[in-house]
Amino acid sequence: NNQPQPQYHDLLHCLCSQEDAISNLIYTAQNSTAYASVLQFSIRNPRFSNNASSSRTKPIAIVTPTTIPQIQSTVLCSRKHGLHLRVRSGGHDFEGASYASLSSRFLLLDLVNLRNVTVDVPSKSAWAQSGAVLAEVYHSIASASRTLAFPAGLCPTVGLGGHISGGGYGTTLRKFGMAADNIRDALLVDADGRVLDRAAMGEDVFWAIRGGGGNTYGIVVSWKLKLVRVPLRLSAFTVSRTSASSDGDAEMTMLVDRYQRVADKLPDDLMILVMIGAAAARGQGNSTKQVLQAAFQVMYLGRKGKLLRVMNENFPELGLKEEDCKEMSWIESVLHFANYPSNSTYDVLLKSRTDSPISFAKLKAKSDYVGTPLPESALQGIWSRVHQVEPGAALLHLIPHGGMMSRISDSSTPYSYRAGTVYKIQYYVAWSGEQKEVEERHLGWIRKLHEFLTPFVSKNPRGAYANSRDLDLGMNDPTGETSYEQARGWGEQYFKHNFERLARVKAAIDPSNFFRNEQSVPPLSM
Ligand code: FDA
Repeated sequence: NNQPQPQYHDLLHCLCSQEDAISNLIYTAQNSTAYASVLQFSIRNPRFSNNASSSRTKPIAIVTPTTIPQIQSTVLCSRKHGLHLRVRSGGHDFEGASYASLSSRFLLLDLVNLRNVTVDVPSKSAWAQSGAVLAEVYHSIASASRTLAFPAGLCPTVGLGGHISGGGYGTTLRKFGMAADNIRDALLVDADGRVLDRAAMGEDVFWAIRGGGGNTYGIVVSWKLKLVRVPLRLSAFTVSRTSASSDGDAEMTMLVDRYQRVADKLPDDLMILVMIGAAAARGQGNSTKQVLQAAFQVMYLGRKGKLLRVMNENFPELGLKEEDCKEMSWIESVLHFANYPSNSTYDVLLKSRTDSPISFAKLKAKSDYVGTPLPESALQGIWSRVHQVEPGAALLHLIPHGGMMSRISDSSTPYSYRAGTVYKIQYYVAWSGEQKEVEERHLGWIRKLHEFLTPFVSKNPRGAYANSRDLDLGMNDPTGETSYEQARGWGEQYFKHNFERLARVKAAIDPSNFFRNEQSVPPLSM
């Protein structure tokens, strides 16, 4: 490692000597009793928690700025003293890249105090700081208007900073595109400590930060969101189907087979996501067995009467009935899909960071893109693999594309899975406990499922979603000296042909590769 070794005390001295007092906002591993709780607060994959068995390096110090000048000072001091810097917003990175490093010692810049959201109804826009979580953004919008929304993720605790940096899909993807498609402007602190808006950073950098990966081009402090118009009442609900025991999983195969053939062709106003897993069920006598369960998450930007007609025409196999369909406002749909109890008021969103309806388990995620419906043999192969792990451990999430997604060009943002994508599969495996053997077994399971799916999913390159970070696809060199050629392997899986443009933008905005992590885009000079 020929990087200069960080002068830790000099760095702290540099930070503390800044005019915009930052010294109260620094937590060091050695001297601060609050260090562990500040670090832990936004760790959303307990696999990389503060435990001794984790192979990842923890930050040597955490800075929690409250102002933009403090971010600038942190960048400049880190750079001056040769210390690697990572930024965290909501902490949902599946590989813990925002708060745990596989390579170097680093300083963590945690945006937890920068979460202001200001909505301007007449211009249908909002400025939102990156440290805000989606729940806080959605709450602010609903407080200002019941017919405006922002098309982003389902999980309330996901941070805006990382989410938009990697794309961001949610329940209105087919109508409005991704979160990153709905950004008007942004404020970026670059490696020279400059604060750049869209005009100052230029269209290439503005293009790259909207989906080209986090911790790569600089620190996005805030985003100007383009809000979208939604009806006052819409239909949002979940219907579950369980495979009948007598025919094994044939019923599930039939249902998912039909789903794959219609999901991307439905009207743009309708989006049906499917979550598939296994649950324990009582068999004969006292025995238990596993059954497959599919939860169809239906979002329709209209009333239920029309929805029922559309469903009967296109997907009668789901057997949707009027009593399944629930009408509500957009913000109530946010609560529904985030699993809040049905009598919750939307103010619960403000407590989501400490009181989340989602429990976070140790997790490994992978993703794939499907361009041609999977044959029945592939579906059956998936089911048999789901049955190999304990109930609740495996989860597949199917995210249909089509609609607006197929009308946005595949170079419009770095997210290139547009026309031709039927749906994306996100698959997860979760476990608990500290034993290495348990972790290895679950990691082995998801890797084998990925291998099994190879013939059936996108190829040359095989696609993957940047926000579903998967270090199995490849990693940068720990020294930070990764070549463009080395990174192409995983880079083109995430961004296809857009990867080269991202690497050139990186060379222009951050040629010294100051902002980096295991999978950041390396600079490609002319
Ligand atoms: P985190 O803070 O960990 O950041 C992720 C990456 O972005 C890191 O590399 C970080 O350094 C960088 N980064 C963070 N803030 C930055 C900033 N201000 N400027 C520059 N870089 C920054 N996705 C989706 O599209 N739809 C969904 O519904 C969901 N749901 C979901 C549920 C759960 C439980 C998890 C764990 C994850 C998801 N995701 C998702 C994936 C999610 O969008 C993805 O992990 C985001 O990167 C998380 O952003 P955070 O800010 O929370 O993460």
